Amino acid sequence: MYLCMLNSQSPEMEKPPLLFNFKIILLLLTQSLLTTSSHSLNPTTVTFSVTEYGAIGDGIHYDTVSIQTAIDSCPYSIPCRITFPSPGNYLTATIFLRSGVVLNVEPGATILGGPRQKDYPKESSRWYVVLAENATDVGIAGGGVVDGQAEKFVVRYNERKNVMVSWNQTGDCLGDECRPRLIGFLGCKNVKVFNVTLNQPAYWCLHLVRSENITIQDIAIYGDLNIPNNDGIDIEDSNNTVITRCHIDTGDDAICPKSSTGPVHNLTVTNSWIRSKSSAIKFGSASWFEFKHFVFDNITIVDSHRGLAFQIRDGGNVSDIVFSNIKISTRYYDPLWWGRAEPIYVTTCPRDSTSKEASISNVHFINITANSENGIFLSGSKRGLLRNLSFINMNITYRRFTSYAGGFFDYRPGCQELVKHKTAGIMMEHIEGLEVRNVEMRWEKNDLEQWNNPMEFKPSTVNNIHFSNFNSVVYSNSKSSQ
Ligand SMILES: *[C@@H]1O[C@H](CO)[C@@H](O)[C@H](O)[C@H]1NC(C)=O
Ligand SMILES: *[C@@H]1O[C@H](CO)[C@@H](O)[C@H](O)[C@H]1NC(C)=O
Ligand SMILES: *[C@@H]1O[C@H](CO)[C@@H](O)[C@H](O)[C@H]1NC(C)=O
Ligand SMILES: *[C@@H]1O[C@H](CO)[C@@H](O)[C@H](O)[C@H]1NC(C)=O
Ligand SMILES: *[C@@H]1O[C@H](CO)[C@@H](O)[C@H](O)[C@H]1NC(C)=O
Ligand SMILES: *[C@@H]1O[C@H](CO)[C@@H](O)[C@H](O)[C@H]1NC(C)=O
Ligand SMILES: *[C@@H]1O[C@H](CO)[C@@H](O)[C@H](O)[C@H]1NC(C)=O
Ligand SMILES: *[C@@H]1O[C@H](CO)[C@@H](O)[C@H](O)[C@H]1NC(C)=O
Ligand SMILES: *[C@@H]1O[C@H](CO)[C@@H](O)[C@H](O)[C@H]1NC(C)=O
Ligand SMILES: *[C@@H]1O[C@H](CO)[C@@H](O)[C@H](O)[C@H]1NC(C)=O
Ligand SMILES: *[C@@H]1O[C@H](CO)[C@@H](O)[C@H](O)[C@H]1NC(C)=O
Repeated sequence: MYLCMLNSQSPEMEKPPLLFNFKIILLLLTQSLLTTSSHSLNPTTVTFSVTEYGAIGDGIHYDTVSIQTAIDSCPYSIPCRITFPSPGNYLTATIFLRSGVVLNVEPGATILGGPRQKDYPKESSRWYVVLAENATDVGIAGGGVVDGQAEKFVVRYNERKNVMVSWNQTGDCLGDECRPRLIGFLGCKNVKVFNVTLNQPAYWCLHLVRSENITIQDIAIYGDLNIPNNDGIDIEDSNNTVITRCHIDTGDDAICPKSSTGPVHNLTVTNSWIRSKSSAIKFGSASWFEFKHFVFDNITIVDSHRGLAFQIRDGGNVSDIVFSNIKISTRYYDPLWWGRAEPIYVTTCPRDSTSKEASISNVHFINITANSENGIFLSGSKRGLLRNLSFINMNITYRRFTSYAGGFFDYRPGCQELVKHKTAGIMMEHIEGLEVRNVEMRWEKNDLEQWNNPMEFKPSTVNNIHFSNFNSVVYSNSKSSQ
């Protein structure tokens, strides 16, 4: 049941481009008005189509002005949907969302990010194809695609890792990581990204910064596996984020909470599939403030360079984290990519001599199956202990199948860097409180010369440990080769 009305004039509306007749605007009565819920303050939704504002959608001409005019025509304080009709490839410079605006990219429609530096704002901190700043009730949905055209940023293809362009000439961004991210919500509240595919980001894909109440649902992310820094979802200084039913396939880290200017509280990730040539889930390495109260449940991690990873380096403490019902397979890739095939990697150490130490407490791993080429690495530091960790109901199988060299403990970035050492099933140092219950380790027999011990403790740094029903067995797999 929708109520349709003619909206002749609205004082907040700016004029659409000259070419266009004023259109009928649909005011949709949302279900909240029809039911007795408390949402009736915002009973209507306005819908504009970018083609009504002149967008061509041929993938060649820039549609920036049409798209932005459509967005800026949204009346204030009424939910506004900006539709990208199918078929269409809408090439654009940065699109700025504002409060109440949800992009509705239809199946068969694609928003294409421009590949030129002049398509983006002057400040590199605002280089996104779609950018929302200080907005509430914003999002992207609709079943279509947002594409960053990463291939247009490749300077030289390389089978190990491509070399990318870096927009560092103005001095606003330095180094070799100066490229636009795909989508950014900075300082936003009530963010919803659902039912869209995010393709080929030139740099990070979906970046949530200083935001809160975020839902990311039913999205797919496809990053080129040879393009560096194309992280999937970076949750930075943001609270109350739910990520569910997502499929993330990226070269760089797939889900990556970071804290640079404030803490990250309440992150829940469920029912998702991940592959990453770096870490599937990684805390840090930017870790200046607290990470607290995270839940990860029912996640499948496939062929990743690292599975569940904590790379705490800057003094932010971590606590109250649960991983449950997780399947992991990790393997070695080219060492130009971060990770060393560890299924679980929990580390905290000061990045350099100026960094503070941080502890990681109350982290629980329950119902985990892992197949991997390397062991679990648990490494606290002298004044930054790992406290109260538990591993309950785990089956871990160790088997080498790539020919990349193993045999290192990886403390990077900073700390002791890479240390040559045989692989242990679980390596432990600087831990206070560890429970291992119902854990079975299996070792591929053919590879035994590469391993050290099922358990390795750094002497005098591990206290208060409890093992029950722990088994470690060698098996032979006649099919294994190499
Ligand atoms: C967003 O809010 C921050 C903090 O108040 C402010 O520094 C920044 O300029 C605002 N950005 C925009 C685009 O309004
Ligand atoms: C995604 O959007 C398309 C088009 O609107 C719709 O047909 C489909 O049901 C949506 N899927 C989900 C999971 O919401
Ligand atoms: C700019 O990027 C190029 C290419 O990655 C790099 O070689 C160069 O050192 C960078 N220059 C500066 C000033 O950051
Ligand atoms: C969180 O955001 C959603 C929209 O994404 C909204 O429906 C919900 O009311 C918000 N919750 C709070 C507590 O603001
Ligand atoms: C997140 O919550 C913490 C703790 O309440 C608070 O200090 C911080 O400002 C919040 N961040 C945001 C972006 O709301
Ligand atoms: C985190 O979630 C808990 C409820 O689970 C809530 O009490 C707390 O206020 C939330 N923290 C923030 C910073 O919103
Ligand atoms: C676990 O997640 C998968 C999607 O990755 C989903 O198909 C399945 O139903 C989920 N299982 C449960 C118990 O929720
Ligand atoms: C981390 O915890 C320690 C010990 O409780 C505390 O001294 C330190 O300030 C905390 N760090 C941060 C960034 O909150
Ligand atoms: C581990 O394997 C045993 C059988 O060997 C099985 O009963 C148990 O459910 C498995 N646990 C997990 C967490 O996969
Ligand atoms: C672990 O798996 C068992 C058996 O499948 C299940 O009963 C239990 O609820 C799971 N625990 C968690 C925390 O999901
Ligand atoms: C250790 O973790 C368990 C399980 O979550 C919890 O009950 C207990 O209070 C924790 N101990 C400390 C010292 O925090």
